[in-house]
Amino acid sequence: MRQKIIAGNWKMHKTTDEARQFVQALQEKLTDCRAAVVICPPFTALAAVAEVLAGSKLALGAQNMHWADQGAYTGEISPLMLQDCGCRYVILGHSERRQYFGETDGQVNQKVKAALAHGLLPVVCVGETLAQRQGGLTETVVGSQTAAALAGLTPEQVAGLVIAYEPVWAIGTGQTASEQDAQQVNQYIRALLAEQYGQAAAAAVRILYGGSVKPANAASLLAQPDIDGALVGGASLKAADFLGIIQAV
Ligand code: G3P
Repeated sequence: MRQKIIAGNWKMHKTTDEARQFVQALQEKLTDCRAAVVICPPFTALAAVAEVLAGSKLALGAQNMHWADQGAYTGEISPLMLQDCGCRYVILGHSERRQYFGETDGQVNQKVKAALAHGLLPVVCVGETLAQRQGGLTETVVGSQTAAALAGLTPEQVAGLVIAYEPVWAIGTGQTASEQDAQQVNQYIRALLAEQYGQAAAAAVRILYGGSVKPANAASLLAQPDIDGALVGGASLKAADFLGIIQAV
């Protein structure tokens, strides 16, 4: 039985004070929870959120990182720095990184390997654009992004991974994939992993869905057999909405 994960990706939102207050309020209201809950604030708020989360069941994640431990990479953050801030998870290959910052499949692969080497749990994002979906290319795109991101990993490493299927057309648009469509792609990813890494790894890997997840649609998405949780953007910025999604598990 795979434990579900509800992860909040705050993207470029919230000051340190806002982050601290949000997490304090969330913790007070979150009494009983079956899911693993992960908060991914911007880099500037990681340390503050880590302080509030100390000793709690909620985990901290980052939204990106560089693959090198250190070096002359102006503006970048290394896996060692994320560990230093108390991160357990790191989102890698988000479509906004690919689209606006030119992140390639090869770089995502380097980052995944670096995260694993430092004991961070990667949340590897894959997903097709609207044009690709309309052109019947969803499986081709998602399949090749997944294969490239995971290239060179062992079945044991794959078993511990988190993958997030985030169709680009559903991100921040209010246009959620239907639970059938999301389930179909997640099932496809799991089947692909079974072929490449074996049944045991495919059965263990957690595959989330992301893209306009809200309290109103969370329960039906999370009820699908291959949807092991949600990567939530906009609705993770309001405590009531994020709680509603967590409570849908
Ligand atoms: O990583 C989360 C994401 O991109 C989905 O964003 O705002 O559609 O929930 P949103």
